[in-house]
Amino acid sequence: MITTSGLTKVYESRGRQVTALDGVDLHVREGEVFGVIGQSGAGKSSLIRCVNLLERPTSGTVTVDGVDLTALAGKGRRAGKDLRRARSRIGMVFQHFNLLSSRTVQDNIELPLEILGVSGAERARRALELLDLVGLADKAKSYPGQLSGGQKQRVGIARALAGEPKVLLSDEATSALDPETTRSILQLLRDLNRQLGLTVLLITHEMDVVKTICDSAALMQKGRIVESGTVAELLATPGSQLAAELFPVSGHATGADRTVVDVTFHGEAATQPVISQLSRTYNIDISILGAAMDTVGGKQIGRMRIELPGRYEENVVPIGFLREQGLQVESVEDPHGEGAPALPLQQHVLVKESAK
Ligand SMILES: Nc1ncnc2c1ncn2[C@@H]1O[C@H](COP(=O)(O)OP(=O)(O)OP(=O)(O)O)[C@@H](O)[C@H]1O
Ligand SMILES: [Mg+2]
Repeated sequence: MITTSGLTKVYESRGRQVTALDGVDLHVREGEVFGVIGQSGAGKSSLIRCVNLLERPTSGTVTVDGVDLTALAGKGRRAGKDLRRARSRIGMVFQHFNLLSSRTVQDNIELPLEILGVSGAERARRALELLDLVGLADKAKSYPGQLSGGQKQRVGIARALAGEPKVLLSDEATSALDPETTRSILQLLRDLNRQLGLTVLLITHEMDVVKTICDSAALMQKGRIVESGTVAELLATPGSQLAAELFPVSGHATGADRTVVDVTFHGEAATQPVISQLSRTYNIDISILGAAMDTVGGKQIGRMRIELPGRYEENVVPIGFLREQGLQVESVEDPHGEGAPALPLQQHVLVKESAK
């Protein structure tokens, strides 16, 4: 639904060049919620602004719903007719809402429809329908100043939906909101995604947002996408930073003659009592050193770091048993050995074993 290829953006400011995007290849499938996460300055906002051509990329292409936007003339407010039409099919939600304080809630939602030349009666009908959809049917005549942050963002979302977009872009839509309001806005985005089949590309610096609503995610660093995939794919990638941050586990071998492995559960395997089966089948004592379980996109997913008695070579059969149950197993080699201070997962050496 959204594809960027070789996207670069170089800003010129006071004679200095800043490379905000450095060859971004992104692919967002129709109907999914895709999260881009990264630290401040990574280029997230630049990416989203290039996707709807608010900024013209320095090079590369952006295709949304089969239309190559980069081939259409103009940018930002000076967009040509074809670009304006294509952009009306892309909704945009902002961190600070960007509502007009002098206009009522209903008039804010009607604004994009006015620009599209929709008649007054049709505009009003559509605005009220959208207010109902975002749960604000009683606020049509209120002004933005009379609303809470969460309510303002609901208006922002309704306005973004006015042009009946197929794609919704969101730049830190929940960063200015408290945790509870954040949850309700994320739930609304999820509901809209399901009800309307809306494809959502959202930018965030909060891992929790990704965990709550994203089907897929990408990690951005210094203008590049360094990891990308569905949550299940990321979890299945040995050494994935995103997977480690989504499901952080830690813990160390309690002795020299021990095998420590990280086990990732998803789908059916998450609900099976595999650890107790393993223990019974091979008559071994298993210690759980750390675990992180959660529901992602309605599915139970988790990671567990377990310790088995004996060296790795002696545990090839039990590890094979776990893999046969559909679990992903990664051996964790602790270079610091016994009694070493706890280190985050990334600092352990993740060994990709050949034994299968
Ligand atoms: N209009 C601009 N002119 C010059 N440099 C810019 C401009 N916009 C962004 N940059 C620079 O491009 C880089 C990426 O900025 P961007 O706003 O895309 O980051 P971000 O990931 O959205 O960060 P944040 O999480 O803080 O919003 C930064 O170094 C920033 O200073
Ligand atoms: Mg930003």
